[in-house]
Amino acid sequence: MKVDGTAYRSIWLDDDGWGVRIIDQTRLPHRFEIVRLETLEDAAHAIRAMLVRGAPLIGATAAYGMCLALREDPSDDAMQRAYDVLLATRPTAVNLRWALDDVTAELRNQPHERRVELAYACAARICDDDVGINEAIGNHGVDLIRATHQRTGQTVNVLTHCNAGWLATVDWGTALSPIYKAHEEDIPVHVWADETRPRNQGASLTAWELGHHGVAHTVIPDNAGGHLMQHGLVDLCITGTDRTSAAGDVCNKIGTYLKALAAQHNGVPFYVALPSPTIDWTIEDGRAIPIEERAGSEVSHIAGKADDGEVVTVQLTPDGSPVANPAFDVTPSGLVTGLITERGVCQASREGLARLFPEHAAG
Ligand code: MRU
Repeated sequence: MKVDGTAYRSIWLDDDGWGVRIIDQTRLPHRFEIVRLETLEDAAHAIRAMLVRGAPLIGATAAYGMCLALREDPSDDAMQRAYDVLLATRPTAVNLRWALDDVTAELRNQPHERRVELAYACAARICDDDVGINEAIGNHGVDLIRATHQRTGQTVNVLTHCNAGWLATVDWGTALSPIYKAHEEDIPVHVWADETRPRNQGASLTAWELGHHGVAHTVIPDNAGGHLMQHGLVDLCITGTDRTSAAGDVCNKIGTYLKALAAQHNGVPFYVALPSPTIDWTIEDGRAIPIEERAGSEVSHIAGKADDGEVVTVQLTPDGSPVANPAFDVTPSGLVTGLITERGVCQASREGLARLFPEHAAG
């Protein structure tokens, strides 16, 4: 997608062919800074500290983290150590484990001297596949937006939560991909972007990428969604997901569940954009998905730009007040109108997913 006319991916190889470039998302929306990763620890830190975030991009960064580790030591022991270090960075997005398994499966029986080259080829393939998957999600999802526009003849208002745009993937995004496709087709579309406390990925990242691509949007407090739905101001909700169970329960950024409840109560369709590497075929009940508990300082403090242009952090809560910070929640499949995958839209159920992905359902 474009930043002021220049096309970017969220992760790419540097000119020397081995260093990895990322956009430091902790600096957005006020600074656009590109960071170079050179070591396993650089990649692990980038995921842990959320310089990169979003399930597909976490997976892509982990794949390149394996490449950087193997450059230093291509032995079996080093490969296992890198796998363990990267897997421990963030627990919820299943794309992390999926990408690490993909790279290690490719290398396991290969001679050590070929491993680096093969790992880079695998990481590049993971990135290119992600772009293709997300564009296909956009092509399927835009049908829903187009149909809504044809029915109402009005601008289509889509509510989204967190950031499931191109910054959360390698390109296109998942939930925002249908919106970019609608924008390309000149279908009038407007996005309600939930601010997404505590880290404000909606206010800082979704608003930033939509704004730089020229898509109409409005940032709203997390608590405004139900009110807007009650007043007919939301045509459909589309969110991303960090892990969806084989039975269609959707784990996503904390607060997604409340939006799905409000959507059902108000008869607003609630769709989830789901790339297949985000399906956890080993889990049926979404409540078994590990939920990341992040630092309390993300709740007690907030960062923003002061009047003099400096980015400052201030404390919100009283000294000594305890805080809790569960980073994700699970929306039961019954609240989800449909899953938008790269193979089409299906019901959020074991049968729905099995119809589109029979090769996994059989296993
Ligand atoms: O904690 P984050 O910012 O990594 O959480 C991101 C989300 O919850 C996204 O909605 C999800 O990863 C889907 S991204 C395409």
